[in-house]
Amino acid sequence: MTLVEIDVSQVAADARRVLSRNRRQGVSDWGGRTYDFVCPSPRSYPFQWFWDSCFHAIALVHVDPELAKQEIRCLLQGAQPDGFLPHMLLWDRQLHDQAMREYSIVRADPFYTATVQPPVLARAVWRVYHASKDRAFLLEVLPATMRFFRWLKAYRDPDDDHLIAIIQPDESGLNASPKYDVVMHLRDVAPQEVADALRSSMDRLFSAYAPHREDPARLVALDVFNWEDVMVNSIYADGLQCLGGLCREAGFPPAEAAEFERRGRRVLAALEEKCWDERSGLFWDLYGYEESRAHTLTFSSLFPLIVDSLDRHMVWRLVEEHLLNEGEFWLPYPVPSVAASEPSFDPDYRTSAIWRGPTWANVNYYLYWGLRSHGYPDVASELAKRTVQMIGTGGMREFFNPYTAEGQGAVDFGWTALVLDLIHAEGWDR
Ligand code: GLC
Repeated sequence: MTLVEIDVSQVAADARRVLSRNRRQGVSDWGGRTYDFVCPSPRSYPFQWFWDSCFHAIALVHVDPELAKQEIRCLLQGAQPDGFLPHMLLWDRQLHDQAMREYSIVRADPFYTATVQPPVLARAVWRVYHASKDRAFLLEVLPATMRFFRWLKAYRDPDDDHLIAIIQPDESGLNASPKYDVVMHLRDVAPQEVADALRSSMDRLFSAYAPHREDPARLVALDVFNWEDVMVNSIYADGLQCLGGLCREAGFPPAEAAEFERRGRRVLAALEEKCWDERSGLFWDLYGYEESRAHTLTFSSLFPLIVDSLDRHMVWRLVEEHLLNEGEFWLPYPVPSVAASEPSFDPDYRTSAIWRGPTWANVNYYLYWGLRSHGYPDVASELAKRTVQMIGTGGMREFFNPYTAEGQGAVDFGWTALVLDLIHAEGWDR
């Protein structure tokens, strides 16, 4: 099928090429463990990243479900006895020096970081299980997935308000999003200086945390970067709902399924109560002890749409007033990471800092399914169509200019292959 001058089968073929080209296999110096996963991008990101791997697993369902399962199994080799799952696994020791030079990261071990990423894992396990119906796989991976969600509750919700906090910007995966500028001291920084200033600011966080690393529960309480992120908590709420269903399918005690479902409802209720702003019709992140609202309009403000039990009135306002607003998010290639109405909006990537304007495929993947579950199949189809066109124009890049679809950032980027899921859902592969 051809979609306004874009050959859909060519886009799908390119996505498959990247998933295959980025596959990394070997035996690590990390205790002789065998690894087999898809890296986000061969040159820029040669390691295993947590939420990238979850997205890769979802895309791999359309290539070979065995590869999808393997992606998750490899990721779970990072699971710690207390349930923690790291945001990066640095399998190849020869690349460690390069990693420490290039990324602002702190490791808990030479082979993994001390931080987390959004808990996409439950959604990915749900997707792979439903595609394969492989019960043995479910029984194998579900316990570690449940432990991770319990870890998040135990270590990241010290005020017990059901919303989990992140302790540094890259824990949301949205490293340089301007919504964090207020706490990262980047508000008055000139665009060309944002990237360097962010690095110094990350070092400031690391120094503050250094004396307390042995006691991870204290890090949120230090209130240095204590951020209840709407996108992270939407993914968490969705994940808890998925876990509830998976526990039932696995035949686990009903009380366990009920526990996750109840917690999922509480997270959503907390988002609706604490983050919803009836005046603007948007959700806002909360930061600090005071739980101040961060009023920078990014796609995060729309993200509760991915939870299918979100209040109908809120759904309507998010979609009609904001998602479809051509002055905010409904640009030629939606959905931009920052609304076009924001002063910090940087569609051309002039700042060389990521998540400040361009469009990303993982955001569109989640919003696509959210729109469908809330009864907006036409908007979802239009979003899928423009996403295919964007990738057909810009290539398998990390992110895209929302006006021109020009590809930006890393090349041969793994999770852009999520387009396979949209193509399949729309029936364009038949
Ligand atoms: C960047 C992104 C992060 C992603 C990583 C690997 O750091 O901000 O979300 O996981 O690259 O692709």
